[in-house]
Amino acid sequence: MGVSPLSEPVLKVENLRKEFGGLVAVKDVSFEVGPGEFIGLIGPNGCGKSTTFNCISGLLDQTAGNIEIFGKDASNMRPDQIQNLGFTRTFQHTRLWRQMTVIENLLVPPRDQFKPNPFASILQLSSSAEEERLARAYDVLEQLEVPHMAHNLASELSGGQSKLVDIGRSMMGDPKLLLLDEPVAGVAGPLAMKIFNNLRKIVDETGISVLIIEHNMDFILRQGVDKIVVMNEGEILMVGTPDEVRSNREVIEAYLGASGDEPGGEEE
Ligand SMILES: Nc1ncnc2c1ncn2[C@@H]1O[C@H](COP(=O)(O)OP(=O)(O)OP(=O)(O)O)[C@@H](O)[C@H]1O
Ligand SMILES: [Mg+2]
Repeated sequence: MGVSPLSEPVLKVENLRKEFGGLVAVKDVSFEVGPGEFIGLIGPNGCGKSTTFNCISGLLDQTAGNIEIFGKDASNMRPDQIQNLGFTRTFQHTRLWRQMTVIENLLVPPRDQFKPNPFASILQLSSSAEEERLARAYDVLEQLEVPHMAHNLASELSGGQSKLVDIGRSMMGDPKLLLLDEPVAGVAGPLAMKIFNNLRKIVDETGISVLIIEHNMDFILRQGVDKIVVMNEGEILMVGTPDEVRSNREVIEAYLGASGDEPGGEEE
């Protein structure tokens, strides 16, 4: 599990700051993700997790600080340029094409990410490229252990299954770095565990790096991530292994009064 600290980070965030008018959503955030690392990003509601993701993926310009992806300065890159480096993300609120099947959803690049017309890229595919993409889509469903869902309409899926398809969609381009924003929020406990187990397996088998936002501390501590980055009020409280996080007094205090619900308690 994990990698040697000598490996070049695939993502390096240094002194990131993001202000919205007078509101400082992210004050000073620095952390790294190494190759093949599976990392949790956790913190109370409103502490700046999604804003951090939005700055990394180029959807927001940061107020200050630096972001390097695969050793390249991504601070001023557009979202599509960042994506071309081998980076993909999901959004906190999953939006599938409801009247399409699961496999069709995998074939269409996700909305907001980052092409003006998602259908244009499909129309341009040659038939062999189309076949390759279809084979890839079935492989992804196999990896996520849901090949039987291929021909279900997205509108028929539960919230948890939709999240799973959204993860599948993010894996279609074979990213080297994947950022997932609360992929199991609202997902029933057993499926949430299965999703994490699958992600762990995919990280170990493919060497991809995954950074995953999860709001539930108790849950993430049990998921076999390599490291946890704990944020609070726009700052990093600590970075450590699950064991180190579990025994950190400051973390425990930041979470006193915070939700300790199992995933599955809420539905989008
Ligand atoms: N586009 C925006 N304009 C203004 N304020 C914003 C914007 N996006 C986020 N904020 C504010 O920035 C702060 C951090 O929000 P953010 O969504 O990053 O938190 P989060 O840690 O992802 O929270 P949650 O766990 O609820 O998803 C919040 O106070 C939020 O209201
Ligand atoms: Mg968020």
